[in-house]
Parts: sequence; C-alpha cells; structure tokens
Amino acid sequence: MIEYSDVIVDLQAGDTGKGKVAHALCKDGGYTHVVRYNGGGNAGHTIYHEGKKFVTHFIPCGILYGIKSIIGLGCVVDEKKLEKEIEDLKKFLTPGHLKHLYIDHRAHIILPSYVEEDSRDDKIGTTKTGNGPAYREKYNRTGVRAIDHFKNNWVDLLIDSYSEFHGETPVRILFEGAQGFELDVDWGDYPYVTSSHCTVGSAILNGVPPNKIRKIYGVAKAYRTYVGNKNFEGNDEFFSKIRTIGEEYGATTGRPRQVNWLDLNMLIKAININGVTNLIINKLDVLNDVNRHSLYHNNQLIDFINDDGYIRYIKGIVNKQCPTVQNIKFSLTPYDI
Ligand code: IMP
Ligand code: MG
Repeated sequence: MIEYSDVIVDLQAGDTGKGKVAHALCKDGGYTHVVRYNGGGNAGHTIYHEGKKFVTHFIPCGILYGIKSIIGLGCVVDEKKLEKEIEDLKKFLTPGHLKHLYIDHRAHIILPSYVEEDSRDDKIGTTKTGNGPAYREKYNRTGVRAIDHFKNNWVDLLIDSYSEFHGETPVRILFEGAQGFELDVDWGDYPYVTSSHCTVGSAILNGVPPNKIRKIYGVAKAYRTYVGNKNFEGNDEFFSKIRTIGEEYGATTGRPRQVNWLDLNMLIKAININGVTNLIINKLDVLNDVNRHSLYHNNQLIDFINDDGYIRYIKGIVNKQCPTVQNIKFSLTPYDI
C-alpha cells in the first residue's frame, strides 16, 4: 500500500546534483524504498556520505542508509559493473546494508556485445556503456531481462515492484532519476539524447499511480552543462573558469562538460512538463566564485550585478509561469534542502 512517493527529476542535461539531493532526502524523509527509475551505467552520481566520496552508477543512494533500494524496471543493468559497484561499497558498508539492494525482475541487461557496439559510437558522444543498444533491444523485444539472465545466481536480488508496493505494508518511496530533461529521448535535442525517458512519467511506470505522487523535486544548476558531441559551449571566458571551479568533468567518463549560461525558458518548460513542486537550483556558489551572474531569457543574455538580482529575477519568472512550484531553494554547497 503506497502512502506517498516523491520524485527527484533533473531539469537540465544531467549532473545537477540529484545524487546529493537524494542523499539529503534519504536522511530524514521517512522513506521505506528508494527506486532508480531510468538509465544504466551511463549515470554517475557523486555522493559524500560520512566524510567519504561515493560514485554510484546503478545503485540508489538509499543503500547508504539501509533503506530498501531498487534498480527499477525502466533501468538497464551491466552485471559486471554492478558487481564491481557492490564490491566497492562492501569496503564501506556492512553486509546488513547491502542486503537491501534489489533489481526489479523486469529490468533489462546490458550485454558485453552492447558495450562493444556502443564503444564505436562517434555520432552522439555516448558514455559508451551500452545503454542505447540495451534499450533498442528491449523495445525490439529481443532484449534480455533480469529474470532470465539471473536464473542461477543473484536470484535473491530480484524483486517484483507490484507485490512490493501494493501489499499490506505501507510504503513511502523516493524515486531517483538519472540524466535529465534535456537528454530525454522525446523532449531532448534529438538525436543528442539518451535512450530513456528522464521525466517524472518514467517514475510512474514503476507501478505507482500518478495520484500517489506527493512532491516532485526538480533539480537544476545555476548554469548549464552538457557532455556529448554537439557544440554547446558558446564563447565566453567565464565558461572554462566555471568548469574548473565547478569541477565539471563527467563522473562516468571523465570528459570535460561543456558549459553555458542558464536558459530560463528551457528551465520553465522542464518545470511545467514535470509538475515540479520543489525547485532546487544548485551550485550558485560557483557563479559567486567567478563573480558573474548571467542567464538567457527570451533569447537575451541578461547580466546581474550580484546573486541577489539573479535570484530575484528567477523567482519572479518561475512564480509567474510555473503554478505547481511551491518552494524554490538556491542551494549552496553543502546541500541544505
Ligand atoms: P548514452 O546515454 O550513453 O547513450 O549517451 C547519450 C548522451 O547522453 C551523451 O551526450 C552522454 O554524454 C549523455 N549522458 C548520458 N548519461 C549522462 C549522465 O548521467 N550525465 C550527463 N550526460 C549523460
Ligand atoms: Mg552525473
């Protein structure tokens, strides 16, 4: 029986600090489950937990708190990489913590041949983790599901989200997304997108009805980044400074992320399509450090004297154009949500 579920959704092209928001929410959100709802090894969530740095690709951050953590049915899983991630976590966590990890038996498997195929991509600039081929095979109905792949080993990990969420025990779920709105296969800049859905709809597909969604945490950064083959970064001396100070290098591939100013129109679109209730804009401290606060709105670059004007402008427009938003937080590091 679902009491409520909250969703974390990325409003840009990934790398906005969702992992850190998830980590903060897990601490005192009262959740019984944390579910990853899309993506696979392409995602990289950097989390600091009790003074240690964790980079996870598949495993939801609920595991750090001993909360039941499910790799949801919309995800694709690379067995070898997941095994390594579990081994790495074993160095820090007790077996008691790790027994809370599950995979929905309907999730699909990334085969080594998919990784090999993806490694030859020179068009999109993928993470070369086999993500695209795994989703292609899934929708072609020639994919391999976890239930078929893990027949003899790892069966203890498999779970059925329906019986888990709709039994007699009350559950409170946190959905944790990967990638983001600008990389969504439908809403993103096709074909420079990932192969899954990165909107709140993707969370609902896990067997949770829309009317059981309580809060939708939309996460953005005070500037935009993108990794991939399209030309994204404009000419501005500040972008390389932002990249260095903001540590804008891929958590999965180490590639430098291209940087640009916040696009307020795009942000509003992402907020409205996802029905965001709680807006979190991270890394404002990076703009403070480079001492420049600019954004694009209606195709114009607007410069502000300081963060105060920048914050007021965004709040004013969002409050006018995004009726679902109840709360706007500009989080400086560390993330106090
Ligand atoms: P793929 O998801 O590996 O197929 O890559 C497709 C596009 O999405 C590429 O431009 C990747 O750089 C980008 N991408 C995929 N996952 C992430 C992520 O977690 N953060 C940022 N960009 C990503
Ligand atoms: Mg990331």
